[in-house]
Order: sequence, then structure tokens, then C-alpha cells
Amino acid sequence: MASKAYAPEAPVGAPPSPIDSLAGRDLCSIADFSTVEIAALLRLAHQVKADPGKFRWALDAKQMVMFFEKASLRTRLTFETAINTLGGNAIFVDQTQSPLGERESLADMSRNLERWVSVIVLRTYAHDTITEMAQYAACPVINALSDLEHPCQALADFMTIEERFGTARGLKFTYVGDGNNVCHSLMLMAAQLGAHCTIGSPKKYSPKPDLVAQARAIAAQTGGSLNIVNDPVVAVTGADAVYTDVCTSMGFEHEVTKRAPIFTPYQVNEQLMAKAAPHAVFMHCLPAHRNAEVTDAVLDGPQSVVFDQAENRMHAQKALLLLLLGGAATHTELS
Ligand code: CP
Ligand code: NVA
Repeated sequence: MASKAYAPEAPVGAPPSPIDSLAGRDLCSIADFSTVEIAALLRLAHQVKADPGKFRWALDAKQMVMFFEKASLRTRLTFETAINTLGGNAIFVDQTQSPLGERESLADMSRNLERWVSVIVLRTYAHDTITEMAQYAACPVINALSDLEHPCQALADFMTIEERFGTARGLKFTYVGDGNNVCHSLMLMAAQLGAHCTIGSPKKYSPKPDLVAQARAIAAQTGGSLNIVNDPVVAVTGADAVYTDVCTSMGFEHEVTKRAPIFTPYQVNEQLMAKAAPHAVFMHCLPAHRNAEVTDAVLDGPQSVVFDQAENRMHAQKALLLLLLGGAATHTELS
């Protein structure tokens, strides 16, 4: 809610530590966090991965509830392993059979949940479900994928890029395929970290213009850039990282037949990967539709970092939970 947004109290020239500024906040969009906050979160994620024992009880007895309207392997299990290994506990509610807000208003749900738990994690169809819950709940609300964004995925993906390249700043990051939820969070995150991002999508499947404008405004501040093209070869040529996702996201299954031929030229195969830089990595959020948007040869090949991305979901989300729930303060130096 508005009161959860960061309101600076420190004098100009003395920005607060992200440890203070992120405590109690929501993550609905990756753009909810500042460039400084994201960089700090990623630094903490690397620390957590290198020394998990240091954070073993940092969220002792904290309760995290998860309501998922859509299927999940990675997101559910990495949030559960994250909170469990920080000393807290996860409560999973399968919401696939009835949308959130149907039995009870989101406002009333929020006013109940905030009395019992420290954080609410939501996977939804409508993005508004997440922002509305965040508006009413006093505790942090985390977007674990909506039709508009997948911010936790972007955190893990750019953590993986930092592992491989040291920094995302100045990196040529290319996303090929549907301008979907994953694409939106990636292009916003790339902008925040000063990367040069190119999206190669079929006409009518480009990312949403308002999010493109938002990402470009952020990139103008960070020295990054965002280029939207329709030609997959143009998009991939010279890229340091090539990313793709399914052509048909959850909730759009009725469009599978229509979409398949439109996305065929955007398949990431060995010929397309050969246009990228020789050191380029291949990335995918998973689950992959093998030999649809990506071939087996690329997905299982030496350039693929997809399982590092999947592992890093857990580490990045541990850092996220530590910061939002105030568990980082006594365990780390983020300056
Ligand atoms: N990448 C991702 O979010 O995977 P799941 O849908 O399995 O959670
Ligand atoms: N774009 C995909 C991502 C799954 C993790 C979907 O929304 O289904």
C-alpha cells in the first residue's frame, strides 16, 4: 500500500541503506525497487549463496503464506526451501480451482492474513489481484508471477548473469519470443542495471508499450538502453546473453495453435545461437517446451545456464525475504 512505499527521512546526500528502505515493502513489479536496492539485493543473494549457514535462523519462526492460481515447480519449491532454510515456515494454498477474491474480498483476506503471517506470496492471472492485496495488507506482498510480470525470475536471472559476467552493466542482453510477463520484468531489470537490452518479438507480440516506456525512462538514468525489433537474427547478433520463454504462457492455452507458426522463426536453435557472441550464454526461465521455442541442442548445450537460473531462484528469494522481513540487518554489510 502507499504507506509501504519508501519515504526518505534521511538528509539529502545520505541515502538510507537498502536494509532499512526495503523492510516492509511489497514486490509487485521489479520497478518497485530502485537501482540501488536491486544492486544491494543481488549482493546479498551472492552472500547468501556463498555462506547459507550465516543466515540459517535469520527469519526464525516467520510465517509465509503462498496462494497460487497457476501451476508451479520452481517458484513454489524455491520459496519454500528459502523460508525453511532461514528458520521460517511456508503455508501453501492451492488456488488453481477458484480465483482469489471469489469467496472473500481481497481486502478482507488481507486484513485476516496480516494478523497471522509475515509475508504473502501470490501467483495470479490478474496483476491487479497482487496490487490490490498489497494495497490492503500491512505485511509485504510478493508477486510470484502474474500475467504482467515475474519479478522474482528476473532477480535470479540477473544474479546468474552477474555470476557469469561479473556485472550486467553494459552487457548485451537479448530476449527472443513473446513479449510476456517474464519479458516485461527482464527488460525493466536490465534497464535498472544499465544493460543494453534487445527484445525480438513477432509483430503484435511485442512487450506492452507502457512498460517499454517505463524501462526506457529507467535506462536513460542508468546508461542502459532498450531496443524492440521483430527480426530474431537482428536481435541475437552480438548478444552476450540470449533468453527465451514459452510462446504460450499459462492462461493463453487457447491460442496455442494460432501462435505456433508465428513463433517458429523465433526458435532458439544452434543456427540462431551462432549469431550471438562466442561467449554468449543461453537462458530460459523454465519450464521449456523442448524443440518448440528452444531446441534440445541449445537447452542441453554448453552455453546453457538454465539450471543455474533455477538454483538462483532460491538464493535470490532468500535475499528478498531477508530484506522485506527485516532479517538482513544483523547478518550482513550491504554498503
Ligand atoms: N520459472 C518458473 O517460475 O517456474 P515455475 O512455473 O515452475 O514456478
Ligand atoms: N511466461 C510463462 C512463465 C512460466 C514460468 C507463463 O506465464 O506461463
